[in-house]
Amino acid sequence: MSQTIIPKLGVGTFRLEDDAAYQSVTMALEEGYRHIDTAQIYGNEEAVGRAIKDADIPRDELFVTTKVWNDNLNQRNFLPSVKESLKKLQLEYVDLLLVHWPSPPKGESMNTYLKELANAKEAGMTKEIGVSNFTIAQLEEALDVLPKGSLFNHQIEVHPYLTNEKVRAYCKKHGITVTGYMPFAVGKVLKDKTILSIAEAHGASAAEVVVAWELAHGLITIPSSTKRKNLATNLKSLGLTLSAADIAQIDALHCGDRQATPDFAPEWDK
Ligand SMILES: NC(=O)c1ccc[n+]([C@@H]2O[C@H](COP(=O)([O-])OP(=O)(O)OC[C@H]3O[C@@H](n4cnc5c(N)ncnc54)[C@H](OP(=O)(O)O)[C@@H]3O)[C@@H](O)[C@H]2O)c1
Repeated sequence: MSQTIIPKLGVGTFRLEDDAAYQSVTMALEEGYRHIDTAQIYGNEEAVGRAIKDADIPRDELFVTTKVWNDNLNQRNFLPSVKESLKKLQLEYVDLLLVHWPSPPKGESMNTYLKELANAKEAGMTKEIGVSNFTIAQLEEALDVLPKGSLFNHQIEVHPYLTNEKVRAYCKKHGITVTGYMPFAVGKVLKDKTILSIAEAHGASAAEVVVAWELAHGLITIPSSTKRKNLATNLKSLGLTLSAADIAQIDALHCGDRQATPDFAPEWDK
C-alpha cells in the first residue's frame, strides 16, 4: 500500500467560481488548511491555482486533488486534459487525481480510461490515483484493471443522512482511503436536532460535530465555505472528540438522503 498521507481535513471548492474560489482557497490556506479539492468541471482550477501560487507555501506541504470530467474519459482526451488542469493550477503535479464519475454503461470501458489514469501517475502528473462515485461492483472492476495497490482513494458522498457504510467497508477491506464529500449535505444536516443537541453538550457548533464524526470514522473530509469564520470553525473540529454514544446517535440518522445524483450516476449500492 502507498505511504502517502492526505491531510484528513481539506477544503472543497464545488460551486465556487473565479474570485469566490480564489478568496476561499486563500482564506483556507491562511487559516491553516493544506488540502484543497477541485475538479475540471468546477471551472475554477485557474483561480485555485492562483490562490495556491500567491500563498507561496512550499509545494510539499500542500495536498491538491483534481478530478477528470466525464468527457475526458477516453484515450484521446484523458492525458491532455490532465496536462491542461496542471497548467491552470500552475502545478507540476497534483497529489491525487480522481476519475470524477464512472463512465455510463454506453461510455468508454473502464479498461480504457483507468489505464490512462495509471499512465498519468506513471508520467509523474500525479502522486496518487483514485476514483469517485463508484459502486462496489465498479470498484471491483477498477481493482482488476489498475496496477496492484495503486487505487489509493475513493471520494464519495458521506454525511449523517447518507453514511454509505457498505462502500466504506469495502474500501477499508481493500486498503483504499475514503474521502467523504458534502459532509454537511450542503447545510441540511447542520439544522438537525440530534446534531444540535450533541453540539450544545460539547459547547461546539453543529459543523464541528459533523466534521468530527467523519474524522472519527477514519474518513478524510472536504467541507467548503466562502466565509473565513466557517472555514476556521470547521478546522476546530480537529480538536473535538465525540463519545461512542454521540457517534452511534449520528450514525442512526442515516436515511439515504443523497444530494449528488445526476442522471448519469450509477445504480447506487443500497
Ligand atoms: N466527487 C464528487 O462528485 C463531489 C460532489 C460534490 C462535492 N464534492 C466536493 O466536496 C466538497 C464539499 O461539498 P459541498 O461544498 O457541495 O457541500 P458541504 O461542504 O456539505 O456544504 C457547504 C455548505 O455549508 C456551508 N458551511 C460550511 N461551513 C459551515 C459552518 N461552519 N457553519 C455553517 N455553514 C457552513 C457553506 O456555506 P458558507 O459558504 O456560507 O460557509 C456551504 O453552503 C465540494 O466543495 C467538492 O470539493 C465532490
